[in-house]
Amino acid sequence: MVSPTTMAAVRASGAVPKAEYLLAVEGVRKEFPGVVALDDVSFRLKRGTVHALMGENGAGKSTLMKILAGIYTPDKGEVKFKGVDIRLKSPLDALENGIAMIHQELNLMPFMTVAENIWIRREPLTRFGFVDHGEMNRKTANLFKRLNIALDPQAEVRDLSIANRQMVEIAKAVSYESDVLIMDEPTSALTEREVAHLFTIIRDLRSQGIGIVYITHKMNELFEIADEFSVFHDGKYIGTHASTDVTHDDIIKMMVGREITQMFPKEEVPIGDVVLSVKDLCLKDVFHDVSFDVRLAKSSAWQVLSAPVVRMWRKHCSA
Ligand SMILES: Nc1ncnc2c1ncn2[C@@H]1O[C@H](COP(=O)(O)OP(=O)(O)OP(=O)(O)O)[C@@H](O)[C@H]1O
Ligand SMILES: [Mg+2]
Repeated sequence: MVSPTTMAAVRASGAVPKAEYLLAVEGVRKEFPGVVALDDVSFRLKRGTVHALMGENGAGKSTLMKILAGIYTPDKGEVKFKGVDIRLKSPLDALENGIAMIHQELNLMPFMTVAENIWIRREPLTRFGFVDHGEMNRKTANLFKRLNIALDPQAEVRDLSIANRQMVEIAKAVSYESDVLIMDEPTSALTEREVAHLFTIIRDLRSQGIGIVYITHKMNELFEIADEFSVFHDGKYIGTHASTDVTHDDIIKMMVGREITQMFPKEEVPIGDVVLSVKDLCLKDVFHDVSFDVRLAKSSAWQVLSAPVVRMWRKHCSA
């Protein structure tokens, strides 16, 4: 086992062997109280590829990526980075080793500027040891130019839309010049045009040899951007395939663990009274004019809503 510090030194010296895989995960297990989030999981990421991770809610996708980003420590198993065993101690450790992650929940400081958020803890300093804001803004403007992002480096993050915050997160991850970039459902708040822009950035990074892990629930994105994909189900690794080798139905079958014809088994349920009625609900920059009724039925009301809607509802409305 090589310590991350040694690994960083080896990496800086350029002596790392040109391993076939940027990342190779073998037999990883992770338990949380009462939940086995990952059970004997494998995963391999090649250089210069986009590798999609698919699976239903709770399949373990984010947990695996959080292990690779130094947030969680696995209970068991091996993680090799460029052919060398690593055990990351923190997200900073992962970043310094060349693994950056853009999280499902955005992690920016709302009262700081865009530039301050990007260069936090590595701000350029003047010769008197103060933060060099001019240089920091210049570096941010250059980064944005490279990524074709039209944002003011001095804007405060709290004034940005969710989509623009997402772009800042992406720019921040890219600024670490990482070998591996992990994106956890990056398009959930983006419009079609913004998604197209993101895909241009991803293709550009891929052509530079960066390995990109792309977690998504959206099948069209998998076929458009991913070279290969791995499927997880209930914390278990199901398999990896080239995205050109499979159909939409094959993937669904792998994800749900049964035939597509059984995905929504027909069940007669008596429909009851309306117990919750939502009319024209809006949350700035998140959703608009959402209306629906929930009626009493034999199955739980939440079960009839799709998982992403439930998640969004819980996240934004329960408070
Ligand atoms: N910090 C935690 N503490 C306890 N349980 C957790 C924690 N993080 C994840 N879990 C549980 O581990 C399992 C896997 O969760 P994970 O977030 O990795 O799934 P996912 O595939 O990313 O799902 P989604 O598509 O909803 O984002 C779930 O049962 C989840 O509830
Ligand atoms: Mg997740």
